[in-house]
Amino acid sequence: MKIESPHIITEGSVQYQLGELKENKILYDFKKIQIYLEAKGKLLFGKNFKLYAEDEAILYKLCIYFIRDFKTCSKLKIDPNKGILLSGPVGCGKTSLMKLLPFIVPHRKSYKVIPVRNIAFEFNYRTVWQ
Ligand SMILES: Nc1ncnc2c1ncn2[C@@H]1O[C@H](COP(=O)(O)OP(=O)(O)O)[C@@H](O)[C@H]1O
Ligand SMILES: [Mg+2]
Repeated sequence: MKIESPHIITEGSVQYQLGELKENKILYDFKKIQIYLEAKGKLLFGKNFKLYAEDEAILYKLCIYFIRDFKTCSKLKIDPNKGILLSGPVGCGKTSLMKLLPFIVPHRKSYKVIPVRNIAFEFNYRTVWQ
């Protein structure tokens, strides 16, 4: 299915516009993305979800990576074709952010978030039994 306006996201009766369409390209507005992410975060994780000011710089980088803004990626020394290593203390919100960010790019193929322990189990299983 082709999504005609991937920069306009509808949640219930509310529409969130993440940017402007110009010559077949979306010019994303980080402020608008933040408004959407906070609303979607509350829907997914509960009303206490909020975007923390101290996470703004990392959130900006993640957004640039997800929307594949190649120009800004290169300015920020991000390789859009590589994976992400997101580190931080347990409970600081890494998993929540990685579950949330695919929603800003509904036109792209998403991914599943799986516990690393499943990968470890799988690895051990293969090593022992195959
Ligand atoms: N931005 C946030 N605002 C409010 N609660 C949050 C936020 N991010 C995460 N949480 C809550 O904190 C807990 C841990 O979050 P999680 O994303 O699993 O952290 P991590 O993956 O970094 O260990 C979860 O219960 C989650 O709902
Ligand atoms: Mg986690």
